[in-house]
Amino acid sequence: MAADTDATLRSGWRLMDAAASTQAGRTDAIFLAMLLLCGTVAVVLLVLVVFFSLRYRRGRAVDRTEPRRIRGIEVAWTVTPLLIFFAVFGWAAHDYVTMADPPADALPVSVVAKQWMWKLQHRNGRREINELHVPLGEPVVVTMTSQDVIHSFFVPAFRLKQDAVPGRYTRLWFTATQLGEFPLFCAEYCGSEHSAMIGRVVVMSPSDYGRWLASGPAAPSMAQYGFALFRQLGCSGCHDTRSTVHAPLLDGLYGRTVHLQDGRTRIADANYLRDSILLPTKDVVAGFAPVMPSFAGQVTEEDLQALVAYIQSTRARDSAP
Ligand code: CUA
Repeated sequence: MAADTDATLRSGWRLMDAAASTQAGRTDAIFLAMLLLCGTVAVVLLVLVVFFSLRYRRGRAVDRTEPRRIRGIEVAWTVTPLLIFFAVFGWAAHDYVTMADPPADALPVSVVAKQWMWKLQHRNGRREINELHVPLGEPVVVTMTSQDVIHSFFVPAFRLKQDAVPGRYTRLWFTATQLGEFPLFCAEYCGSEHSAMIGRVVVMSPSDYGRWLASGPAAPSMAQYGFALFRQLGCSGCHDTRSTVHAPLLDGLYGRTVHLQDGRTRIADANYLRDSILLPTKDVVAGFAPVMPSFAGQVTEEDLQALVAYIQSTRARDSAP
């Protein structure tokens, strides 16, 4: 399969890239349905326009009185396409919602885009640049941000594209269905070397992937590194059961609903944690004073992802009986 993809890359142009994820087939089906539907409408209209302009051209002796049943026909040709296109909307919306909702057990990968490279990190701490290794047949969720301008993570063979936006996290998920290497592109113009901001996704068998993941240079896991930062930056000085400063406890916080001072609520997801670290006065938790200093400028995007990974890792500990 890998040889097949290499051959495809070498031979250059072809109409459609391989469909190598569970989403790809669904996206292709919608695309094909839209193409056939719109093509049919276009052909029917074209034929009618030509037919009517010949049949009713000036000077031709034809019956030009309005048929009695014209209203019924008008309603039919208006309502039928409307219903068909609503059905297509429902179909596409269903797939879109599925694409936005990764399975809970999806393998997390963190991505930081920058001019002009993709920096990726797996949960066990293994890092990659411009390459993403994933196992075949297992869902993978990619959480991304940018440390400068907007980039876009685009894997044509998976039919997936997601902007990486500075100042927030976005994500996409996929399940690869073919072994091999698939091109990864930046699909948002991001400066002079945008066109060189390319990489590849390597889909391996789960056992090969397991070996690959364990084989890298020894590094602390993201959660371990996050915990070290948590101590080093002094977060634990306040966010700890033994602390004298009154600050929210963070164990098991991830995924919970947080009630804020001004009556709003937010889900404690990666974006909420990120905002709380960099913009602590934005979402002050109900019952707490807005005394936390901002850590903007003191932490890199990688540090933030590690801190989020650490807080995420405390979930199990908290939910244990
Ligand atoms: Cu990054 Cu274009």
